[in-house]
Amino acid sequence: VTRVAGDVIEAGAITLRSWAAPDAAFVFDACQDRDIQRWTTLPQPYTAMHAAEFVSSHARPQPEAGGAFFAVMATETGELLGSISIKGVRDGDGEIGYWLGPEARGRGAATQALDALATWSFRTFGLAQVHCRIAPGNAASVAVATRAGFVESGRQAGTCRDGDEPADALVFVRRAPAS
Ligand SMILES: CC(C)(COP(=O)(O)OP(=O)(O)OC[C@H]1O[C@@H](n2cnc3c(N)ncnc32)[C@H](O)[C@@H]1OP(=O)(O)O)[C@@H](O)C(=O)NCCC(=O)NCCS
Repeated sequence: VTRVAGDVIEAGAITLRSWAAPDAAFVFDACQDRDIQRWTTLPQPYTAMHAAEFVSSHARPQPEAGGAFFAVMATETGELLGSISIKGVRDGDGEIGYWLGPEARGRGAATQALDALATWSFRTFGLAQVHCRIAPGNAASVAVATRAGFVESGRQAGTCRDGDEPADALVFVRRAPAS
């Protein structure tokens, strides 16, 4: 069960919270990771300036215009684990993207964060569905989306990335529960 207090989304072992300026060092370090650079569309090279701009532009109450941006944090320790956001909110749909720092992987944190943000987004924005675009080779992300209740429902040519090359996107959709 997801508990929401203000713009903090608490979901068991992980909590989603707004970004804050001191998080820039974590974001910079994490985004040097090969898998994040391979599978996401972050700028390359990813500089300290990119990280500082990212956290400062989202260091405010969420949601913001067209979406919401959260740090993923371990509930018990406050350790920063990664990033999750929803963007392009319009026409009853929005796109969720995520990454975890390398040390935070393999403990279900991305699945919990994705499930929590989807649930929060249905309620906050009144969406009919949310989606993720995942390159076919990104098995860890496909597994996360599947475990979070997303279903593969289409393919877009060339809108993802695999390193320096464009890659097709598998579109994973989760529909809002019938109300
Ligand atoms: C995607 C990401 C958030 C997943 O992190 P995570 O929650 O720690 O996920 P895990 O490492 O536990 O992996 C998830 C599942 O995929 C499996 N998996 C991981 N790498 C795999 C691979 N190369 N091939 C097959 N399966 C793989 C794991 O075994 C796990 O399944 P299991 O728990 O049933 O064994 C993380 O890998 C990441 O940040 N990657 C870089 C950024 C990225 O790709 N973001 C998503 C863009 S769409």
